Amino acid sequence: MSDAVNTVIVPLIFLASAILFILGLKRLGRVRTAASGNQMAAFAMLLAVVGTLLDIGIVDYRWIIGGMAVGGLIGATAAIKVEMTEMPEMVALFNGSGGAASAVVALAVVWLNVVEAGTTGTAAETLGGSQAITVGLSILIGALTLSGSLIAYLKLQGKLKRGQPILLPGRHVINLVLGAAMLYLIVAFAYQAEGAEATTMAIGLTGVALALGVLLVIPIGGADMPVVVSLLNSYSGMAASATGFVLSNNLLIISGALVGASGLILTQIMCVAMNRSLLNVLVGGFGEDSAAGGGGSDEYVNVTSCGAEECAMVLENAESVVVVPGYGLAVAQAQHAVREMADLLEARGCKVTYAIHPVAGRMPGHMNVLLAEADVPYEQLLEMDTVNPEFKTTDVSIVLGANDVVNPSALDDKASPIYGMPILNVHESRSVFVVKRSLSPGYAGIKNVLFENDNTTMIFGDAKKVLNDVVKELKEL
Ligand code: TAP
Repeated sequence: MSDAVNTVIVPLIFLASAILFILGLKRLGRVRTAASGNQMAAFAMLLAVVGTLLDIGIVDYRWIIGGMAVGGLIGATAAIKVEMTEMPEMVALFNGSGGAASAVVALAVVWLNVVEAGTTGTAAETLGGSQAITVGLSILIGALTLSGSLIAYLKLQGKLKRGQPILLPGRHVINLVLGAAMLYLIVAFAYQAEGAEATTMAIGLTGVALALGVLLVIPIGGADMPVVVSLLNSYSGMAASATGFVLSNNLLIISGALVGASGLILTQIMCVAMNRSLLNVLVGGFGEDSAAGGGGSDEYVNVTSCGAEECAMVLENAESVVVVPGYGLAVAQAQHAVREMADLLEARGCKVTYAIHPVAGRMPGHMNVLLAEADVPYEQLLEMDTVNPEFKTTDVSIVLGANDVVNPSALDDKASPIYGMPILNVHESRSVFVVKRSLSPGYAGIKNVLFENDNTTMIFGDAKKVLNDVVKELKEL
């Protein structure tokens, strides 16, 4: 019976799980299918857990049940308590846990097979050449992901030098030395070290990888952390994949590779949307000088502002309105208020759409998730390339807590740090309202020339409060 379970049933469960992971990932690529893709991937994970529990390798369920209870409790509490705006921090911590798990499994394999078994041969002779190398890689990538993710978490929280880049003198030389030490330790661990010596090498490799993770992430500014978190997510997948080879677990190899590849693709998408190369992000410096405002002065002149009443009067006469959500909308949690305003305008025959910039907010899909929470119909969410040609014929664009993604300096100010980043061309609409609390800069730390345009009117205040006031005025008109 147990033979049939291990030779037929477990591989079939793993196969079904792998297929569902791939299909789920594909569905996550589109807003309309994302929720079902998420459920599919969650079910695939359940299958993976059941398949693994049925595997003969398991000798004691007590530790597993204890681990699942503690892990499940921590995960559920974090998921319930975390604010939407703290999601990048949570993802950073989860990536770090994934990396730590891979490294710990690989260290346990070293301990059980090389040390406790009392073998006299090298890791390569005991574990097999390629497995010894994958154990080394699993320790290396896992530990590097752990320390890098913890630094990313501290930077996102502003607990480490307020998220500023920390540039150590001679850091490139230190990194090169650590890189060389890491290569030596992997090869030496696998092919030279025997017994207890192998453990010392594995622990040394862990130490070097932890130091490398810290040193690679501290020079990067808090502003670039979301890209780094995405890259670390990819690393955690690669570490899991390497651990799959260590444990001869095909499903872990496949799912780790999927996370590794999708994390890399996401990193690339984020870099393209910010018009930066990955190397430029990793070398650091962006957001270092928050006063860097491009070619012009940071002072604002000719800024016009108004209140909710005036805005409601203009909206009331508009035939087309484009809502532009940004990070501030998430901070204000104003998604339901936006929906209410849009419903009132639509009831008056106005066409309302939402312009979604790929890097609006602080994580991929941030605006989509936020608006989905308020049941905004998917077909009203227009991607940048679709909506940009429409601004010229739009009566009113209302920018809600967005800043960088509507900054025209990206189009024509070669001295601007965001020059070349594609933006939403709201400045082309007949009239623009910008709702934010002050003239403070956004994520890139630079002045926004949109605020000085003749067709722009600022409404200063918290997005939710302003929208509630606009809704009240619209109801009274
Ligand atoms: P930002 O440029 O960061 O601007 C957000 C604005 O929201 C701020 O200027 C702030 O102004 C305002 N705000 C904050 N709280 C508010 C509230 N309660 N009510 C109203 N307004 C509020 O946001 P964005 O336009 O969404 O651009 C995103 C930026 O993040 C881009 O530079 C992008 O490159 C970067 N980024 C995004 C990602 C992803 S994946 N989304 C990843 C990495 C980097 P006040 O303080 O004056 O209110």
